[in-house]
Amino acid sequence: MSNQITIALSKGRILKETLPLLQAAGIEPAEDPNKSRKLIIGTTHPDVNLLIVRASDVPTYVEYGAADMGVAGKDVLMEHGSSELYEPLDLKIAQCKLMTAGKVGVPESTGRLKVATKFVNVAKQYYASQGTQADIIKLYGSMELAPLVGLADIIIDVVDTGNTLRANGLEPRDLIADISSRLVVNRASMKVKHKLIGKILEQLTKAVEERQE
Ligand code: ATP
Ligand code: PRP
Repeated sequence: MSNQITIALSKGRILKETLPLLQAAGIEPAEDPNKSRKLIIGTTHPDVNLLIVRASDVPTYVEYGAADMGVAGKDVLMEHGSSELYEPLDLKIAQCKLMTAGKVGVPESTGRLKVATKFVNVAKQYYASQGTQADIIKLYGSMELAPLVGLADIIIDVVDTGNTLRANGLEPRDLIADISSRLVVNRASMKVKHKLIGKILEQLTKAVEERQE
């Protein structure tokens, strides 16, 4: 069994905020992942490679062992819903809130709700737990548009500053979960490659703590 490990990351916010933490663990990309078209990138650590994947694909790569570890938002992990993933560390980056939102001043319908979101599983569970009847409409982005054009009454999306909601005449309603990015590890990799993964985990834990001080 190979002693090399791969870490799945997504471009953008997660990559930007994860790189300083990885650097503290002695892992720096050999080339700039934001500029390179390569999807497997070597690092300054001889045994570690990075895989560049879509944010919502990170749990899939790690669950199937195509990547040993990965970094994913709790929103993405809740939606993916796998018990096959070990989630040992809250990296406390990309912090935001998963919320419902609707048009400013428009009271929530008392009848069946139309809810647009990319978090279909989370939405189903949330409205079931509330005992509310809801039709869930799957979108892949720009959820804020849905209430403006009558596609939905409510959206479920992540909110940080609230600027995107405000710019579109929407308001936050209910908090579903506080979100941050988590380190996820394949359960088999954790056993088989425990020495290297354990060391990286230890260094990342220290880097997260130092960042909070
Ligand atoms: P995909 O490409 O799979 O659709 P995405 O475009 O949502 O994913 P990013 O925008 O890079 O990917 O977001 C990655 C993670 O960062 C999200 O899963 C969420 O946890 C967090 N996040 C998203 N938007 C914000 C924000 N505005 N502020 C802080 N964190 C955020
Ligand atoms: C995310 C999310 C919201 C926005 C919330 O989009 O989908 O639209 O951030 O942040 P705010 O409350 O600070 O406005 P992002 O900017 O990542 O663009 P995306 O649609 O490409 O994910």
